[in-house]
Amino acid sequence: METSLKMLFLTLAITLLSKQCICVNSGFTFVLLENDEPAKEWWQTASLYQIYPRSFKDSNGDGIGDLNGITEQLEYLKEIGVSATWLSPIFRSPMKDFGYDISDFYDIQPEYGTLGDFDKLIAEAQSLNIKIILDFVPNHSSDQNAWFIKSVNKVPGFEDFYTWHPGYADANDPSKRLPPTNWISVFRKSAWQWNEQRGEFYLHQFLAAQPDLNYRNPKVVDEMKNVLRFWLDRGVSGFRIDAVPFLFEIKADEEGQFPNEPHSGDTNDPDDYGYLKHIFTYDQLETIDMVYQWREVLEEHRRQNGGEARIMLTESYSPLNIVAQYYGNSTHNGSHVPFNFQIISRIWNESNAYDYIACIDDFMKIVPKNQVANWVVGNHDQHRVGSRLGTDRIDAINMIILTLPGISISYNGEEIGMTDQWLSWNDTVDPAACNSNPSIYTQFSRDPERTPFQWNDKRNGGFSTAPKTWLPVADNYKEVNAQKEENDENSHLKVYKKLKQLRKEAVFQNGDTKYMALTQQVVAIARYFEGEPLYITVANIGPFKETADLTEIGINPTETLTYHIVGVSSKHTINEQITSNQIVLQPFESFILRGKTDVNQLESFEYFQYSVADF
Ligand code: GLC
Repeated sequence: METSLKMLFLTLAITLLSKQCICVNSGFTFVLLENDEPAKEWWQTASLYQIYPRSFKDSNGDGIGDLNGITEQLEYLKEIGVSATWLSPIFRSPMKDFGYDISDFYDIQPEYGTLGDFDKLIAEAQSLNIKIILDFVPNHSSDQNAWFIKSVNKVPGFEDFYTWHPGYADANDPSKRLPPTNWISVFRKSAWQWNEQRGEFYLHQFLAAQPDLNYRNPKVVDEMKNVLRFWLDRGVSGFRIDAVPFLFEIKADEEGQFPNEPHSGDTNDPDDYGYLKHIFTYDQLETIDMVYQWREVLEEHRRQNGGEARIMLTESYSPLNIVAQYYGNSTHNGSHVPFNFQIISRIWNESNAYDYIACIDDFMKIVPKNQVANWVVGNHDQHRVGSRLGTDRIDAINMIILTLPGISISYNGEEIGMTDQWLSWNDTVDPAACNSNPSIYTQFSRDPERTPFQWNDKRNGGFSTAPKTWLPVADNYKEVNAQKEENDENSHLKVYKKLKQLRKEAVFQNGDTKYMALTQQVVAIARYFEGEPLYITVANIGPFKETADLTEIGINPTETLTYHIVGVSSKHTINEQITSNQIVLQPFESFILRGKTDVNQLESFEYFQYSVADF
């Protein structure tokens, strides 16, 4: 025993000295690189891709996307360099909020397939080294969930699974009850719904068909952890956690009363969620601890089963000081990927390069040491990049998120530059819009960004053979589709694929980063790493021709730089050499330049510089 321990230490010492160390730490393996930085875990430089299953690929001709459709398209995911895909909810649901209203957390929605289809998807994805991440919707269930029905009936153990309150008698009409507070639901109007059977109101921060689970009840906390364990056991690599800031509401006082929320002054529409300041129903302190507890469930699973990290991505549009806490602290591990929505919430058509850099830098500043940044520019709740920021900026945005350090997250269709489809009030199905009225629904509708994926120029854009699809395919599918872009020499898809290829290089995996606004319109991001080529993303995000000086970001004027990847509108050709540091960029032109490493020169330059050691 003693001898074998000595041998172990000796081997460890030798490998450490040779700097090719493999340390075995509580069952996990991590490798030290030449520069003594531990090798990154798979997720730390991952390219994540969100699939909206209802709209991705319909395999059985019913007009609705499904699991077998996703399985059919795994090769496509592989080709576009996806390391893991997170699927919007696929669980049993009456589909009032298209799957975010779950009636059985342990089963698959029949129109999407079966548990068998799910297992097949996991197995085939694994064989291609693509990880599957599920959407975990912990804040609420469907009102058709057995738990809710039991709670309505006060079945022992389920009485307090949801937040119930008798409300108050209406002084003007004693036969009527008034809700306990003025709280408003995200989808408009009171967040309290009267339940005739139980004779009480229940809380719903989203639709009335989505009652809020009561996280002050330990039974709820336990049950939801079991949900995580169930899917972990079936082979998922993690969860995107939905609507995290809504988990807790303020504790009721001794008399069981909740306080009203103050008016925000932001809108005069009393039904609008923005009418109140949500100080008692959003970002309550207990939320962060719940995130830490879920992380522990992931860690526990890994301790018991080994393998690579299972990760969590957390959805919160909260201020950055709160998002920062999701990452964890010195005593708790937290979310691996607290979604960074800075570009979504702060970048508009009018934004200049300084705004872009401020967004990037503000997030970089909250990333704790040993954690990584992440970059989200779209999802099923946000208008598409090409519609929000204009189709001219599609390549620039993809270049920015794919060359910054950390994790990139693309929403399906962004790689081919899909845009929003306008839908009439009659064709609108999103409850966020349907709960409003024909004159304002477009402000709320999320249908435009959820239309079916455009695979080719055939019927329904190749998404489905059905006579009618659940949402219409966007009008531009003949010009914007994956097949056409694959065949075109110059397309958003080609640019995206080249960027994904580039991301695999050591400099993007482990290198340092420097970014700055070179002019009012030109964003520059330099990535460099000792002994590796230097890459600079240069993006003119504005509508005017600009001249930018690369020496500003620390590039040696004698450096030889070539165009390595160019956006679709650029007239430059690959490998063409840059002849001057004064580069002229046409409106919205973007490209990636490649040069020799000049690490010292870059490092002497202080502005917005981050090194791997900072994370
Ligand atoms: C999240 C989802 C959104 C859903 C809501 C309620 O914000 O992204 O689509 O409607 O939660 O679950």
